[in-house]
Amino acid sequence: MTAPILRSLAELRTKTNEWHRNGETIGVVPTMGALHEGHLSLAQAAKEGCDRVIVTIFVNPKQFNNPEDLANYPRTEHEDAKKLAPYGVDAIYVPDPHEVYPDGFSTTVSVAGLTDMMEGPFRPGHFEGVATVVAKLFLQTQADRAYFGEKDYQQLLVVRRMARDLNIPIEVIGCSTVREPSGLAMSSRNLLLSPEGLRVAERMNNVMRHVADGLATGKDFAPLAQEAKENLLQAGFSEIEYIDLRCAETLENLSKASKPARLFVTAWAGGVRLIDNIPVNPV
Ligand code: PAF
Repeated sequence: MTAPILRSLAELRTKTNEWHRNGETIGVVPTMGALHEGHLSLAQAAKEGCDRVIVTIFVNPKQFNNPEDLANYPRTEHEDAKKLAPYGVDAIYVPDPHEVYPDGFSTTVSVAGLTDMMEGPFRPGHFEGVATVVAKLFLQTQADRAYFGEKDYQQLLVVRRMARDLNIPIEVIGCSTVREPSGLAMSSRNLLLSPEGLRVAERMNNVMRHVADGLATGKDFAPLAQEAKENLLQAGFSEIEYIDLRCAETLENLSKASKPARLFVTAWAGGVRLIDNIPVNPV
């Protein structure tokens, strides 16, 4: 059975107030729709960890720095609701835009530090848009736990910091990236790849694993990163924006796997910008 679709804050609060009155915990999975198996794994994790689950679907205009990207973003509400049906989700919150950004809305949530690197400089305003909408969704849903994919690892840390700094009483839980058999991280953007672009994109994870293997033997990151860049270009990627090894907690740059780390890569294949990251254990 498909979950009820709620479009107003009043409808949402009727449900959440009742659930909390009954002592039930609420999990939220914030999404922009166009759901794939990565999102569905978050819904499943939420269902396993909470009594009630809300999936939110809102294409947030404030986090797009390119109006064309926003206009082209897939809107597939009906299919999304059908995909969620087997997961026993209790409500799908698809807020009318004025419920999120009413007339005169003039607040921006900005997280310093964690947003100064990687995606931050490449996508000005993006993380402010994310932090602002996620703060609203946390407060509107009154959820006890929120589930985010590690695919957008920087976003996960930004959101966790934002909730902590603003004393929003919610636990932010990161869930492993879901991958295609080729290792390609699931992403709504994969739908934009041509068959040739997909063939190129599928090589990314292999190149990343090769770097992680080198780090595991105690090698320095710089030569491994240079080799990875060459390998990606040879595989058909047209541009490599960054290959970074960073502390998994603070995102500070590392020259070796000296503490729990993540390896981040952002590169273009077939006109599509792809981002990925994998964990790297300390040696
Ligand atoms: O990761 C996403 O889909 C979005 O950035 C999020 C967290 C739903 C905020 O709009």
